[in-house]
Amino acid sequence: MAHIWPIGGGKGGTGKSFLTGNLGILLAKNGYRTLLVDIDFGTANLHTVLGIPHPETSISDFINKKVGTLEETVVTTAIPNLYFISSALNSLDITNIVHEQKMRLLRSITKLPYEYILLDLGAGTSFNTIDFFMISNSGILVTTAEPTSIENIYRLIRSVYIRRIRQELKVHNFRVLAEEAKTRDSRATEQNPEILLYIIKEIDPERGRVVEQSLRGFEFKLVLNQLRKQDDPNIGALICKIIERHLGLKIHFIGNISFDDHVHSSICKKMPFLHIYPYTQTASDIRRCYENMVSLKETQLCIHGVAE
Ligand SMILES: Nc1ncnc2c1ncn2[C@@H]1O[C@H](COP(=O)(O)OP(=O)(O)OP(=O)(O)O)[C@@H](O)[C@H]1O
Ligand SMILES: [Mg+2]
Repeated sequence: MAHIWPIGGGKGGTGKSFLTGNLGILLAKNGYRTLLVDIDFGTANLHTVLGIPHPETSISDFINKKVGTLEETVVTTAIPNLYFISSALNSLDITNIVHEQKMRLLRSITKLPYEYILLDLGAGTSFNTIDFFMISNSGILVTTAEPTSIENIYRLIRSVYIRRIRQELKVHNFRVLAEEAKTRDSRATEQNPEILLYIIKEIDPERGRVVEQSLRGFEFKLVLNQLRKQDDPNIGALICKIIERHLGLKIHFIGNISFDDHVHSSICKKMPFLHIYPYTQTASDIRRCYENMVSLKETQLCIHGVAE
């Protein structure tokens, strides 16, 4: 089964597509059969980061059943071992795909025959984006050092937390328990997941532990991109500590990636950054993040109703 790295972050423009493209290139160069999937429906641009002209086929051909299998939408790239599914010709917005389309797509992604599958997600915390982020336990969050971006990372993680509690409540028929929690403490709602979990554990320690264990299964990764000279280089590790303390979720800090104007010029030239600026600090930062990512043991797929 493939290692799946969904790459997200609440805010737009933090560098999700940039990181997806460049991590994909490194995986492929190191001999891993790698697939990049552009899940940023509506504003897809991963192909530009990779320097690929508009592919003729896209994910919408699968969603609209023009082709029978997702594999048929895969295109090769100029880089050996690197494959790509584009969303460039997709007129749909992620929020518009219906539940069955999403589940069919999620299931099909998990079955694709690659060693690594990287998903470039759009910004935002819509249910659909979160469900793609939750396809594996090892999603990568990309933030900048700006407080607005950090706030959105926290929001995204809380949304994942709430979604997981909801799934657990459904799967284990916990709804009654959630109702009881609400009558005990009116703050114990899905909007306050920490309090909800706390009360559930009080009412029924055993089932509360099941939810808690499920949440602990997540091992998010955090990358701090576009770090400027004036930024505190320890901010990423600090964010991880705060989230761990407040939500009890494990977050591994993967590394800082320096801000570099060459990124802009690589995108304007439609050439992969690592190919044209391999000797920059930013390129060595990306390589270090890559090494940290592949060396971390990953947990397998876990999403209810997705893994079969
Ligand atoms: N390390 C970096 N140094 C300088 N500029 C960067 C860096 N990383 C990304 N950028 C710039 O930030 C912009 C946004 O990058 P990218 O498109 O990868 O973000 P994104 O998170 O995928 O955005 P969206 O949410 O719109 O999909 C690009 O114009 C790119 O030039
Ligand atoms: Mg993007």
